[in-house]
Amino acid sequence: MQKHWWHKATIYQIYPKSFMDSNGDGIGDLKGITSKLDYLQKLGITALWLSPVYDSPMDDNGYDIANYEAIADIFGDMSDMDELLAEAKKRDIQIVMDLVVNHTSDEHAWFIEARENPESPERDFYIWRDKPNELVSIFSGSAWEYDEPSGQYYLHFFSKKQPDLNWENPQLRQKVYDMMNFWIDKGIGGFRMDVIDMIGKIPDQLIDTNGPRLHDYIKEMNQASFGKHDLLTVGETWGATPEIAKQYSNPDNQELSMVFQFEHIGLQHKPDSPKWEYEKELDVSALKAIFNKWQTELELGQGWNSLFWNNHDLPRILSMWGDTGVYREKSAKALAILLHLMRGTPYIYQGEEIGMTNYPFRTLEELNDIESLNYAKEALEKGASIEVIMDQIRQVGRDNARTPMQWDTSKNAGFSISDKTWLPVNPNYKDINVESALANPESIFYTYQKLVALRKTQDWLVDADFELLETAEKVFAYIRKTEDSSYLVVVNLSAQEQDFCYDFDRAEVVIANTELEPIADQGKLQAWDAICVKVK
Ligand code: GLC
Ligand code: CA
Repeated sequence: MQKHWWHKATIYQIYPKSFMDSNGDGIGDLKGITSKLDYLQKLGITALWLSPVYDSPMDDNGYDIANYEAIADIFGDMSDMDELLAEAKKRDIQIVMDLVVNHTSDEHAWFIEARENPESPERDFYIWRDKPNELVSIFSGSAWEYDEPSGQYYLHFFSKKQPDLNWENPQLRQKVYDMMNFWIDKGIGGFRMDVIDMIGKIPDQLIDTNGPRLHDYIKEMNQASFGKHDLLTVGETWGATPEIAKQYSNPDNQELSMVFQFEHIGLQHKPDSPKWEYEKELDVSALKAIFNKWQTELELGQGWNSLFWNNHDLPRILSMWGDTGVYREKSAKALAILLHLMRGTPYIYQGEEIGMTNYPFRTLEELNDIESLNYAKEALEKGASIEVIMDQIRQVGRDNARTPMQWDTSKNAGFSISDKTWLPVNPNYKDINVESALANPESIFYTYQKLVALRKTQDWLVDADFELLETAEKVFAYIRKTEDSSYLVVVNLSAQEQDFCYDFDRAEVVIANTELEPIADQGKLQAWDAICVKVK
């Protein structure tokens, strides 16, 4: 199998509005990101995935793009982008751009033309029907919006300001590939592809994801753009099964490098329920079964996993499955060790490496996220109590991940000198911030730093097979095996003592958040113990 740089890479996701504000307007920006590249280099990451920085009215914080070849004013301009690319390159850091081509903003020139001039070629870049059907928007309500002047409805699977593109139109597809080449020519390291599994939709048959021509489009995109370059491409594919993931990521298929699958994240809510019906208690057995399936079914050469706990749409993992109290540091390290030693490309979401947690939102006024706000409005109309809604938003609302990055103990956690930041800073920033993490050699940061370094240097992380071990329910243990070596990873995913017997004779510790001896002597794991050893 041909190895690519991204097989040994760890990717760091930045949510630009919340990373670092350079000009004091309370909103993060490109110059802010550039000013923190030394920090990212210290962490050791290979690439940055930037959530969208393109020109946008920010109805969905940039996932509604008005111009793919321009930068939003709040983030700076194209010269700031070029500077970020150049400065990142000096530090061997690639920039992965967010590719949002399931939809545009309603303020994109194509949509403006489509609306104003129904005879224009742009009209068919979008999806228009005389009558709506029962499709609903992921952000609540009907997926169809009436356009008075033309008397037709347009499809929007997200907000009204995010009209869906019509991928059946070859001219539109070519325009997307040209735009991708514009960015490739700038020297980017790849694309993260927003809801890419939706581009093959067939609205009249109520098909939203995994439409019949989806893989034809991706193959065509590969040929017309990134296929000629050594780039990282990762598709956001909520409903992927291992079978589907192999279709995308088997190198023979010439589609993508890898996909984000969300099956483990599905354990954060009740089965077959919307995400708001959250489930805080982690079902460790189910988690083990899911990872075991993905790790073993995506065999080397047949597909490739991505590994993540967090992103800008998900609650902070420590608040969900870790411990935000006495075991905050230890549980954060345990979750990191568990994930990063599996096969796949790991992703770190900004602030994860210092153990940031959910925000204690009290009122709807503190929120920005359109998904949460639309949900709250709809739920209130249906009679739900505001207490219940706020509790749901505190647990799983997207703004939890989007509060400003906590850099130090100064005003606004060092994120901005403005009096008001676009989202409030988490009040725990005096304890949880980069400055104190860097000053403490035992901090979560250094566990991540070590995991990133291992990923670069240890071939077994890519090559070795994965074998789940039978253990006590709350213990997640697996062996990674190559022809000449074996590595054991053991993690206690609970605050209770657990039995774990293993002959640790002659074992060599690779990484741990605890001492090996007590485990070896007593056959017990203490709260959130995590360890990886090379065996025999
Ligand atoms: C993806 C993004 C999310 C966005 C949506 C619409 O799921 O991750 O943030 O709201 O697509 O673009
Ligand atoms: Ca700013």
